Amino acid sequence: MHSNSTLTEPIIAGSNADFIAREEAHSAHNYHPLPVVLERGEGIFVWDVEGKRYFDFLSAYSAVNQGHCHPRILKAMTEQAGKITLTSRAFHNREFAEFAGYVTAYFGFDRVLPMNTGAEGVETALKLARKWAYQVKGVPENQAKIVVCSQNFHGRTISVVSASTDPDSRREFGPFTPGFEVIPYNNLQALEAAIADPNTAGFLFEPIQGEAGVNVPDSGYIASVRMLCSQYNVLMIADEIQTGIARTGQLLACCHEGVKPDVLILGKALSGGFYPVSVVLSSHEVMLTIKPGEHGSTFGGNPLACHIAKEALEVVRDERLAENARLRGEQLRSGLQKINSPKIKTIRGKGLLNAIVIDESDGVSAWDVCIRMMHNGLLAKPTHGDIIRFAPPLVINTEQMEACIDIIAQSLKG
Ligand SMILES: Cc1ncc(COP(=O)(O)O)c(C=O)c1O
Repeated sequence: MHSNSTLTEPIIAGSNADFIAREEAHSAHNYHPLPVVLERGEGIFVWDVEGKRYFDFLSAYSAVNQGHCHPRILKAMTEQAGKITLTSRAFHNREFAEFAGYVTAYFGFDRVLPMNTGAEGVETALKLARKWAYQVKGVPENQAKIVVCSQNFHGRTISVVSASTDPDSRREFGPFTPGFEVIPYNNLQALEAAIADPNTAGFLFEPIQGEAGVNVPDSGYIASVRMLCSQYNVLMIADEIQTGIARTGQLLACCHEGVKPDVLILGKALSGGFYPVSVVLSSHEVMLTIKPGEHGSTFGGNPLACHIAKEALEVVRDERLAENARLRGEQLRSGLQKINSPKIKTIRGKGLLNAIVIDESDGVSAWDVCIRMMHNGLLAKPTHGDIIRFAPPLVINTEQMEACIDIIAQSLKG
């Protein structure tokens, strides 16, 4: 079947509206983007097809922590792309061997299982937890339970949305995968009651719930989760796909409470936004429950991904991005406090993962504020109605952050 030819001719010099119309006509409508069409990025800035420059305050949902088109990661990518990109794991490849040693030492784990997207990383962690439950913990076959939190976001696959409580994520996608129990977030009593069940394999959670609107748990929650999981012999599975890799002001959000999970899932910024790369990190005991042929991915652990990810992690360390995220995050939150805007009901966050809750009672919604910010040169997006997330690349400097706070202040006024 051929499309209408006038619709498929290239748009040589078009406006934002031209490209949006083209996309609307030909793509699935599974997103509701701001009406801007980006074509270039550098550091904390992106440019649209009409040449307008914006501060990026979303970082592709925290995937571009190192800044857009970081020159070191770009160089690593192009070098490796000219050597070899994909072997499959039917054979060994030297980049994976290098990366496996590097990433396990970097995060302090025994073994790594590489995948591509975040959701695949989560699926992998769920499969590992079940294997471990049957082989090590002694849970009867097909009885393993994974405990998750309400308002979680772990991705979009059928099994992952089976663990979701978001009606939009689930509606008309059933039947769902069994084996999940949902408890309230930030509730240790509920956690203890759920994991006391001897069939519990693991507790899967986000140390800060990103998509739910940057829900920061009480101080001490993560350390208590660690304690309870150890007490009941349940795997503590931290989904740090959004919170990890310096975003919250520490290498991992779990580091704020000096905690090491049993299973760690990373994605997004693992490649600095150049390529889909995710990993699951864990112990020999957990990881070796999966045998050859039981799990894998054609692209998982490919040489291009591994070479990019190694450089992306080196940039995080060399540029001290965790420290910058901590300092600039403090600057942002105190700057937002000083604005003292009646439109802001709440300011919350850690490092450079932040959100404000908008008072929409005057008829100006969070979406409207985002449109104003867009016109004023800053891109941020509402998450769940009245909440706006602020998560710029971690390379932002003091003056740039001041300029962004001014734009936000001006946009809240009208
Ligand atoms: C905490 C968390 N887990 C998993 C995912 C899914 O990652 P992906 O979109 O790469 O599948 C996301 C994406 O936003 C996330 O924030």
